[in-house]
Amino acid sequence: MCGIIAYTGRRQCKDLLYQGLRKLEYRGYDSAGLAVLADGRIEVVRAVGNLDSLEKELAGNGCTGASIGLGHTRWATHGRPSTKNAHPHLDCTGKISIVLNGIIENYQELRDQLASEGHKFASETDAEVVSHLVEKHYDDDLVDAVRRSIDVISGHFAFCVIHGDHPELIVGARKECPLLIGVGEGENFIASAIPAFLSETRDVMVIEDGEMVVVTPESIKIIDLDLQPVEREVTRVSWNAEAAEKGGFETFMRKEIFEQPDALADTMAGRLPESGGIVLEELAIPNEELAQIDKVYIVACGTSYHAGLVGRYVLENWSRVAVELDVASEFRYRDPVLSPTTLVVGISQSGETADTLAAMRQARSQGAKVIAITNIMGSQATRDADGILYTRAGLEIGVAATKTHVAQIAAIQLLALYLAQIKKTLGSEELEAIIAELKTIPDLMREYLKNESATHEIAKRYYQQPFFLYLGRGVGLPVCLEGALKLKEISYIPTEAYAAGEMKHGPIALLDKGSPVVVVATDGHVYDKVVSNIEEVRARDASVIAVATEGNERINSLSEDVMYIPETSEMLSPLLSVVPLQLLAYHIAQLKGCNVDQPRNLAKTVTVE
Ligand code: M6R
Repeated sequence: MCGIIAYTGRRQCKDLLYQGLRKLEYRGYDSAGLAVLADGRIEVVRAVGNLDSLEKELAGNGCTGASIGLGHTRWATHGRPSTKNAHPHLDCTGKISIVLNGIIENYQELRDQLASEGHKFASETDAEVVSHLVEKHYDDDLVDAVRRSIDVISGHFAFCVIHGDHPELIVGARKECPLLIGVGEGENFIASAIPAFLSETRDVMVIEDGEMVVVTPESIKIIDLDLQPVEREVTRVSWNAEAAEKGGFETFMRKEIFEQPDALADTMAGRLPESGGIVLEELAIPNEELAQIDKVYIVACGTSYHAGLVGRYVLENWSRVAVELDVASEFRYRDPVLSPTTLVVGISQSGETADTLAAMRQARSQGAKVIAITNIMGSQATRDADGILYTRAGLEIGVAATKTHVAQIAAIQLLALYLAQIKKTLGSEELEAIIAELKTIPDLMREYLKNESATHEIAKRYYQQPFFLYLGRGVGLPVCLEGALKLKEISYIPTEAYAAGEMKHGPIALLDKGSPVVVVATDGHVYDKVVSNIEEVRARDASVIAVATEGNERINSLSEDVMYIPETSEMLSPLLSVVPLQLLAYHIAQLKGCNVDQPRNLAKTVTVE
């Protein structure tokens, strides 16, 4: 978590850094700050809260005239959100400044040691030890000081350092947390993510794990920890700056919900050729090996885990392979039974989630084949996997995942169909019929999104309710889990999501007259069972809000409200049934006046355990 940016060039850097931080705000918004260097002096401006607070602080402050500086937007780990804990941090002399993303695990030990040597700390953060370490090791050579500091740090991090005696130089270092270079003409950027400099340059160099980078306006040198130069290509990214803007929508989340049909179509593009079948080129695991796979193990967190849950149903149903699934933070501390014929699928939109990466690495070390399903090209997950299946949802800024989620569901459906094709667990006619239907889903979703007013009306009726229960069965269950997560994370309303058949074993006690119960009751082989559960809810006078398949008139007499989705086959239905639940959560949160793009306490990329 946290976003960092650094600039060195000929232009005044204050605005460039600030605008870059605006694009990184999704990574954390507990506090933010800038450090700029001019005439050998470093000036630091920091503020608690999101970038609006920093903007006010900057308005009353100079910070002009500098053309080298650092910026940071924080998601607090060590030390509460406060001005003194905001980055950038300084050393004792005020000549060295750092910004850091990540965690220094041995910071207490280092801090005690540095304090005993006379260093004075100004914050409660782990990050500040890095500025004092660089100070301790500095002997006119900033690169060497950073290198020697890295030697004693344990944890995962990406940081950048400037020094008052080096008016053009930025030194950066990376261990597990992302760090990229934006290559300009007579100027260069370093940042946690591409959007930070996308409006200035689309030429990017990736800094790999265990590398350092030494940047001036005219030069970029990537070096390894033996200080040996490393060759790295410059890649031109296809995103444009507009992708990181709201494009006329009132929020990023809303824009991203409406981009879902394109995210789906793009994720399928080129993988379902006219000639028939499925082509998954980046998988890079030979078909002969995939044919031997006897177990798929899915690891992921949050919304990505819910996409994985859908994966379980389609993999069992289409590919007839045993599927296990765990949240990555549990998997990594268990002793899972894996073998070379186990395929582990790590799902992570960011490709940087610490727990998911650790789970994937663990699986690989146990000899399993690992595939990453991710939305970010070149992310760490792609390096910790044998094969990759990219979702092509485009940049997602809203902290609550939406378009990346439906793209993840599509990706795992493609994987299941691909395995079915290899293992011949589906007849070719059946396979082609599913593919043909899958291709129609983006248009169905596009049509659906034209009629969201019904969902808005429902939200108006229920937004003041203190609690929502979500029920579903089969592929409807992960959809409920995701709907409940969306509502709680952006509106702060407590929710519970349960397998509908389990309700009578406990959650039914929560129901009272008028309690809203959202039920996914789309057509499928468990539909009648779901109806029985709806009856149980109604017998307690609770209010049923159903998600049902168009044409199902009967559900009207069983529910207070119905959100209809277009007709689809059962295994493809989550692609559509999750959309009304995203919209319901969205409208409720908006009616409650919540900041849907930046829910409290959350961050888009969770690079800490
Ligand atoms: O980047 P990832 O997909 O690995 O992120 C996993 C979760 O942190 C993420 O899905 C989180 O639950 C979102 N807030 C969901 O909206």
